[in-house]
Amino acid sequence: MKGKAVLLIGATSSIGRALAHEMAQQGAALHLGARDGFEVERVAQDIGIRYQVPISWSTFEALDYETHPKLLQKAVDNLGTLDGIVVSLGELGDQKTAQMDFNHAQRIIHSNYTGVLSILTHTANYLEQQGHGFIVGISSVAGDRGRQSNYTYGSAKGALSLFLQGLRNRLFKSGVHVMTVKPGFVDTKMTFGKPGMFLVASPQQVAAAIMKALHSKKDIVYVPWFWFWIMLIIRVIPEWLFKQLKL
Ligand SMILES: NC(=O)c1ccc[n+]([C@@H]2O[C@H](COP(=O)([O-])OP(=O)(O)OC[C@H]3O[C@@H](n4cnc5c(N)ncnc54)[C@H](OP(=O)(O)O)[C@@H]3O)[C@@H](O)[C@H]2O)c1
Repeated sequence: MKGKAVLLIGATSSIGRALAHEMAQQGAALHLGARDGFEVERVAQDIGIRYQVPISWSTFEALDYETHPKLLQKAVDNLGTLDGIVVSLGELGDQKTAQMDFNHAQRIIHSNYTGVLSILTHTANYLEQQGHGFIVGISSVAGDRGRQSNYTYGSAKGALSLFLQGLRNRLFKSGVHVMTVKPGFVDTKMTFGKPGMFLVASPQQVAAAIMKALHSKKDIVYVPWFWFWIMLIIRVIPEWLFKQLKL
């Protein structure tokens, strides 16, 4: 990471913050983007002082699509170059509310998918033209199979995983590495107080695993690693049986 210039979107999320610390510790220059302008400035100043790396920030609202090209340009201007982007934002929402209120469902879909697709499309075009770089998209194991407890969020994450897969296929010949990250349960504000959580990882563990996978140029990574095996089992359960389970 030493000398790399990275745009990190969703920098105030628990996983995003942990990634910002990891990257800065490894010597990367960062441009942080997040919806909460006050908090992103606080995170950036803390990291700048701690690790003495070039750091700048912007507010980023996933739903304000027309602001995304400007933000990308600001990141490039501040960093002087761009080697990669990491997008770590999401809204779990409430499945029961999403079933009754389309506006809520739409918000979950646009925050997790359309907004992420927007900033990634602009950045992908930039990196493709440049001929090198990396894209890290944080999806979820929730996107691997639809479950009654979170299928609106899960469908947005599933769409994001497919989008990243297509992008990887498109950008391979341009030398741009696209990595899909699928975390299991992580101890963050997204999952705070939620029932049915098990094998919960810390944001720091997840960030360290993401950095390791990025250095090894993995295409798809489950974090922690054992979620690969859990999801393999979940995916092979036949649909006639799966539909009877309360998941
Ligand atoms: N936690 C888990 O168990 C888990 C599991 C699998 C995947 N993930 C994924 O990992 C990533 C990071 O999650 P986390 O748990 O670390 O998150 P988190 O701490 O709950 O924070 C979520 C972040 O997303 C931001 N956000 C939500 N909607 C946004 C929008 N419309 N525009 C801009 N920012 C928006 C929030 O901004 P504010 O701070 O302004 O609210 C917040 O910074 C997400 O993609 C999430 O889906 C998490």
